[in-house]
Amino acid sequence: MKAEITKDVRRAADYLKRGELVAIPTETVYGLAANAFDDEAVQKIFAAKERPSYDPLIVHTHDPSNISKFAVFENKNARQLAAAYWPGPLTFVLPKKELISDLVTAGLSTVGIRIPNHPLTLALLEEVPFPIAAPSANPFGYVSPTTAEHVLHQLGDRIACILDGGPCAVGLESTIVGFNNGHGVIYRYGGLEVEQIESVIGPVEISINVSANPLAPGMMKRHYSPANDIVVGDPAAISKARKGTFAVLSFSEKYQELGASEVFTLSQKGDLQEAAHRLFLGLRYLDSLQVDYIIAELVPSKGLGHAINDRIRRAAAH
Ligand code: TXA
Ligand code: MG
Repeated sequence: MKAEITKDVRRAADYLKRGELVAIPTETVYGLAANAFDDEAVQKIFAAKERPSYDPLIVHTHDPSNISKFAVFENKNARQLAAAYWPGPLTFVLPKKELISDLVTAGLSTVGIRIPNHPLTLALLEEVPFPIAAPSANPFGYVSPTTAEHVLHQLGDRIACILDGGPCAVGLESTIVGFNNGHGVIYRYGGLEVEQIESVIGPVEISINVSANPLAPGMMKRHYSPANDIVVGDPAAISKARKGTFAVLSFSEKYQELGASEVFTLSQKGDLQEAAHRLFLGLRYLDSLQVDYIIAELVPSKGLGHAINDRIRRAAAH
């Protein structure tokens, strides 16, 4: 059976209350939601995504006053960041409290928490008497979905419902921030820029995990991976050196003269926000082509560029 697609928040809430899975729109990417207090429902997330049980889920709520029920939320930097950027593309890793099950956190003593910024999902969170556990709504290891159609295409026959909130505004997953003796640590680059975080709490440590079997889970080296072979670098040099048909993921250049089968340009005007918004769309599109390989050009390493380049490198990792 195919998932019901709806814009009706009550309908989506009913499914969640019955322990079913609902794909939800957020400003970053679509999430695959279940009642975070219902282990049986949460188990369905892992099954639908074929996600290993050692990879913990983010808990979503609409109400800042809920946070201290789920986690120790006393640190001043965390509170300042929350005040500045929630609801928004920011996830905290905080010491968990009893109420959050070991299934959600994969046995870790910490929990990931976020207040997402999308009107339908905020209304949904208000409608249900529990927080929502939700990873990105893609099969494990694949590119995150940024439209309801992406979800339908890949998980449509494994879930009950898709709450259609249109294309995701940001297009990249949230930035994940933890705290080491109160000092901010970035675990995943994402939709909130490091510069924006540092403007509130000062310099942060960057600790992006690129291990293939990580202890700090989920930051797998090979992730977001399309099936096609992706090479990162300068399209002119690579296409000259390599045989075969190819497509290009380019930042703002066109590269039409290189003889590529297709060129997907992230942002004609070289705007990183637009590039972030279109990145997963571009990766999905290029992955659908019959070519021998894809050349992906990196974008400038500033602002959202860090997160874009991180996702491009992971898509290309073997
Ligand atoms: O933007 C987002 O964050 C989206 C939307 C749906 O909110 N969610 C998302 O979830 O990207 P997911 O599961 O695809 O990625 C969350 C990452 C995972 O890599 C997971 O390992 C990590 O967060 N994570 C969750 N809880 C953690 C914890 N307690 N400690 C360390 N990493 C954690
Ligand atoms: Mg994910």
